[in-house]
Amino acid sequence: MKKTARAHTNIALIKYWGKADAQLRLPLMSSLSMTLDAFYSETSISASEENEFFLNDEKQTDQSAQRVFSYLQYLQDRFGVSGKLKVESTNHVPTAAGLASSSSAFAALATAFCAFYDLDVNRRELSRLARIGSGSASRSIFGGFAIWQKGTDDESSFAYPLDETPSLDLSLLAVELNQNQKKLPSTKGMKDAQASPFFEPWIKRNDLELNEMIAAIKSNDFTKIGSLAELNANEMHAINLTAQPGFTYFEPDTIRAIKLIEELRSKGIECYYTIDAGPNLKILTQQKNIKEVKKIFLSEFNNVNIVKATFGPGVTVLD
Ligand code: ADP
Ligand code: DP6
Ligand code: CO
Repeated sequence: MKKTARAHTNIALIKYWGKADAQLRLPLMSSLSMTLDAFYSETSISASEENEFFLNDEKQTDQSAQRVFSYLQYLQDRFGVSGKLKVESTNHVPTAAGLASSSSAFAALATAFCAFYDLDVNRRELSRLARIGSGSASRSIFGGFAIWQKGTDDESSFAYPLDETPSLDLSLLAVELNQNQKKLPSTKGMKDAQASPFFEPWIKRNDLELNEMIAAIKSNDFTKIGSLAELNANEMHAINLTAQPGFTYFEPDTIRAIKLIEELRSKGIECYYTIDAGPNLKILTQQKNIKEVKKIFLSEFNNVNIVKATFGPGVTVLD
């Protein structure tokens, strides 16, 4: 018997970057995201002679396999089930490039696990389980806009939908400047960032920014959504730069792309950016400007891959 789940990635407009508890992946802030239609992971679980993990048809034996196996062990202990498992996953998203592969990966894995053992869990519990695999995965259980409330313990830290089928005119252009796997995984980057003198103000602003973002979404205010998402992302990257020692996920092309967005805005083409733990940009824009933004980016960057996305669905179990 084999069970397969599909989960879409999500991009945070108000970001999770800092943990209160590393094992349980309890965050120090609440976050808000947009689940994307264009990027997803499909993960199957079946019984096996030994634990095995295949990613994009290749057997993994490195840290990524260890991460999957220890997560499965955690889930088996939690539910009192056992057995060796074969995990086969396909990423329809670049892996570990700051395009949120861990969000779709662990949402799909948690869901496939529950389907395989026929566990009766609701979406809130599924979100809590996905969270233990990768924090951002808690939000990929849901489609559209989701909020991960930080909570205070395992029970209270989960995501819930804000609006699973938004009618808002909002598209995200993923500008794939560099699809290579990052050298500094998100888990490590966010740990190191806590040494920044700006870490405390970053945490303190979370309530305000989250509430402003919710209000902007409820009033269909694209300008506010875009500018606040950009501010929030830059705050995150500012604490990376000011950690001790400081670091950045930006590459020269990331800065070039930021400058280009500023230039487009000065020409009246409204667009904003958000950036995660990687060099790639995500442009937030609206239907009327997509063609123009894409054209200008393609003419400024050689060989860049630009993928258009809008709201995607929550996790599903496939037959
Ligand atoms: P990203 O920006 O892609 O989310 P992270 O550093 O958060 O980067 O996570 C990348 C890691 O997530 C990979 O190194 C691997 O350990 C894990 N991962 C990615 N895709 C999968 C998958 N489909 N199944 C299991 N684990 C995955
Ligand atoms: C910048 O969820 O990948 O994308 O919980 O350690 O697996 P772990 O980290 P992860 O961090 C995501 C960070 C981010 C912002 C966000 O998605 O909220
Ligand atoms: Co991640």
